[in-house]
Amino acid sequence: MSRPLYERPVIARHQTGAMNKFSRAASMQPQTHVDGVPVDTLVEAYGSPLFVFSEKTLVARYRELRDAFARRFAKVRVTWSYKTNYLDAICRVFHREGAWAEVVSEFEWEKARHNGVPGERIHLNGPLKTEATLRRVLPEGTLVHIDNFDELALLERLADELNLTPKVALRVNLAVESIPAWGRFGFNLENGQAITAANRIVAGKRLELIGLHCHLGTFILDPASYREQATKLAHLANELRRAHGLVLSFLDIGGGFASHSKLKAQYLPGDQATPSFDRYAAACAEGLAALEYPAGKEPTIVLESGRALVDDAGTLISTVLANKRLADGQRGLVVDAGVNILFTSFWYDHDVVPAQPFGGIAEPTVMYGPLCMNIDVVRDSVMFPPMRTGDRVVFRHVGAYNVTQWMQFITYRPAVLMIGADGRHGIIRKREELETLLASEEVPAWL
Ligand SMILES: Cc1ncc(COP(=O)(O)O)c(C=O)c1O
Repeated sequence: MSRPLYERPVIARHQTGAMNKFSRAASMQPQTHVDGVPVDTLVEAYGSPLFVFSEKTLVARYRELRDAFARRFAKVRVTWSYKTNYLDAICRVFHREGAWAEVVSEFEWEKARHNGVPGERIHLNGPLKTEATLRRVLPEGTLVHIDNFDELALLERLADELNLTPKVALRVNLAVESIPAWGRFGFNLENGQAITAANRIVAGKRLELIGLHCHLGTFILDPASYREQATKLAHLANELRRAHGLVLSFLDIGGGFASHSKLKAQYLPGDQATPSFDRYAAACAEGLAALEYPAGKEPTIVLESGRALVDDAGTLISTVLANKRLADGQRGLVVDAGVNILFTSFWYDHDVVPAQPFGGIAEPTVMYGPLCMNIDVVRDSVMFPPMRTGDRVVFRHVGAYNVTQWMQFITYRPAVLMIGADGRHGIIRKREELETLLASEEVPAWL
């Protein structure tokens, strides 16, 4: 009989986090597999740290979103928000399901074209629309969401020069209760800018205004925000119909739905706080009831969800490098994944669990990444059991924004893997190596 491992005694201060307002917090369970594949197998084959994406979860989230809206609206279009995660394999799963593309740069537009999306199935957003970009995308019928008056004037000039009538939408920003307005993008509704811009487009006759768009922000936990937004967009659409007889072909309610992650400032964890897609869809339907359009002329409802579709499908496996006892007595754990690859740890308390069975008493633990920088904290003050070097931990709900906002800093960016719906797995982005980085460096001749 093997002797049980020695467990050193610890004194753990009582933490209020041990309970929440409903009951005791759920006890931590190890996650030894990802979609049926052992974590150890994955690390042995592909190294650590390692991002792993589940095709099954991507598809399930996509269908849940599409179906929640399709139950309430005659015409629904899901566009995949490229900036959230533009790895080809991820995009192709969504395009295979029927998603169009929503992009905010020429690079993302080229990526969408490379993934087989026709130009006229791309919505181009954001403030970065140079003349060169517009010359590239307009002949392909891309839908341009206008951000400001200078862009509007540029589009009208290009329409004349290229002898085209581009289809455009107006990006609108507006106030809803309980969240700070993203007033930077598009035309403000409340101060009259949006209606002025719309009138100007109609009067100019060089652009065809076919849609209104508003993106409220990100990780919006209250579906009521979408009810307010949709009501305001509906009123604006009604006003344009009365003034110009204009019947829009789409209303775009943007992205912003929450994943099952947890913001640092949030009280309840994602599995309790995150609204279902059904609740968001119901709120939008209540708001859009204000739309006074003739039967059969209902606009397509466009969604630009990013985070809510991909976050829950992404996992990061990391390996414990060392244990520490900090000067203030707190326990520290050094892992091989830092904020350079888990950028979202600045805003989210990522759900992290051991990848192997564990014992011992959990203690408040600060989890550091491997960077020689004090800011490299991937998880602050989490109740975590004792770990040994070489043990593995799994960060969950990390599929959004990390593999686009990550940076090569101090170390190589790790491999990214997808586990297919049938259990097969394969690399979707290679681990970087010295050659990857040297490929874009030059040494001038005088050196
Ligand atoms: C215009 C636009 N649409 C969609 C998104 C995706 O947002 P989210 O990932 O919160 O769904 C963003 C992200 O900021 C955005 O700027």
